[in-house]
Amino acid sequence: MSKKNLIIIQDVLLKAIKKAGFDVKIGDIHIDKTKMIEHGHFASNVAMFLAGKTGKRPREVAEKVIESLDQSIFEKVTVAGPGFINFWLEQKCYTTECQFLADDLNDYLYGSLGGPSKKTMVIDTSHPNVAKPMGVHHLLSTIIGDSIKKIYKRAGYEVINDNYLGDWGTQFGKLIYAIRTWGVMSAIEKNPIPELLNLYVKFHDEAEKDPGLDDFGRLEFKKLEEGDRENRKLWKFIVEKSMDEFNRIYKRLNVEFDVINGESFYEDKMPAILKYGRDEKIFVDGEKGAWIVMPKDPNDPPAVIKKADGATLYITRDLARIQYWEKTWSPDLMVNVVDVAQEFYFNQLFDVADRLKLTGAQNVHVKFGRMQFKDARMSTRKGNIILLEELLDEAEERAYKLAQEKGLNLSDDEVKELSRIMGIGAVKYNILSQSRTTNITFDWDRMLTFEGNSVPYLMYTVTRAKSVLHKSGFDMKDISRFDLEAATEAETKILIQLMMYPDTLNRAAEEFKPNHIANYLYQLSQEFNTFYNGNPILKAESEDLKKSRLLMTACVIRIMDDGFSLLGISVPDRM
Ligand code: ARG
Repeated sequence: MSKKNLIIIQDVLLKAIKKAGFDVKIGDIHIDKTKMIEHGHFASNVAMFLAGKTGKRPREVAEKVIESLDQSIFEKVTVAGPGFINFWLEQKCYTTECQFLADDLNDYLYGSLGGPSKKTMVIDTSHPNVAKPMGVHHLLSTIIGDSIKKIYKRAGYEVINDNYLGDWGTQFGKLIYAIRTWGVMSAIEKNPIPELLNLYVKFHDEAEKDPGLDDFGRLEFKKLEEGDRENRKLWKFIVEKSMDEFNRIYKRLNVEFDVINGESFYEDKMPAILKYGRDEKIFVDGEKGAWIVMPKDPNDPPAVIKKADGATLYITRDLARIQYWEKTWSPDLMVNVVDVAQEFYFNQLFDVADRLKLTGAQNVHVKFGRMQFKDARMSTRKGNIILLEELLDEAEERAYKLAQEKGLNLSDDEVKELSRIMGIGAVKYNILSQSRTTNITFDWDRMLTFEGNSVPYLMYTVTRAKSVLHKSGFDMKDISRFDLEAATEAETKILIQLMMYPDTLNRAAEEFKPNHIANYLYQLSQEFNTFYNGNPILKAESEDLKKSRLLMTACVIRIMDDGFSLLGISVPDRM
């Protein structure tokens, strides 16, 4: 099996470093592309790292390493700036890299990712609350979570995606009471979620006037928990109706779950965890017979595991979930993709889970910020409820207009299909191309345009590349045997960018940040367009040059397709 050049560079660097009398682990040798190609194709800061450890001057270390370096794969190696080692690769290295990549992308990516032993990750995404419309934060969790799942699968993990629905808790007692008291079944049947939401709001309004209502709500929930037939039936009906709505959105987003174990799934699994925590003396007595876990930091409130009236809580179910995940999949990683508003809660949960020694897995709260709407109409929506289906409709309508304006050579049916792909893709890409740790801006004008970091721009780039390849009449198998002819600067930049893909994937996985992939694809598109606008492919000066450019184009397509698939975005066949 061939080796990727970045790995080869790492290997020769490691040898040189040892030969020069220094010591380093392979994992500490990082190779990145340079900011400007005039300074080299790739650069390593390893000399600065070694200087830091040995107290020597970085440039001196770099020079020593270069003296011991096997330079057969390089055109040139220099010391730059404060002590970077900069490399120019020989043209033949790019040829082997592209042939490898075009030949078998799976094989190409294997080795830099995952490693031989299969690891498992369970990931909790989407988790909307039953009887309420899916919120914007649930949309973020669904889309970011789906991409993280795909990235980890690509990295060789076994991934189980679990939709932890909010389908249990005292609010269902209130809702049942409200349905019985004020509800009209036929109206609920017709328009379930808005009607249920109204009833829930009504309960709260009425309970403000008459606090006694809360007791009725609690009573109905208690009956539900104890298996009361009528209450169970009503609850099931609510869950089913909600699921129908959620499924419509999931279908449009093209996301799937491996399991849907909502909070109610843990109802019969809580007694075991309660007993265990009590036996271990971690659940101690709180006020009036409640069970609590004392906080690590005395300034924090304790975690309440069981209320004075015996009711369980959100955290009780989450603890049972962790225990169940451990028992069922014994994963290496347990991930919850949830809004930053629950940060404190997750710290508390993980702390309690740790003390109970529920799992050896790494627990990760992948948090994301708020969505901020540029569109005043959306940001001032009453109750901050944006109907997600309307948002998706609008995205598709806007994409339709955009496609028409662009004057693409497509039939009306094709434009419709394209606007569906482009509209949904734009919503996803807008979320995934921004760093999830800050607030996420939602701006129609920036999302749906053929310029800049947007889905239409990226899709246009890749479909254009595909059409060139298609017109050439060659297929992948022929192309993977072509050689690269002396590359222009624009081509070399593409080749460098291509080689950074495995690293980008790794980073996206390690940091749980799909935006690394999105931004990578944007850069690759820019490099490709610069090249495309200045260099003929099918009408290249010679047959060899044509083949060379086709090989490179094929590699760009492979990587663009792969990147898009990791973001969960479909690509149209043509535009
Ligand atoms: N359903 C909850 C909500 O909407 C989010 C659940 C997050 N996941 C968890 N394991 N607690 O607030």
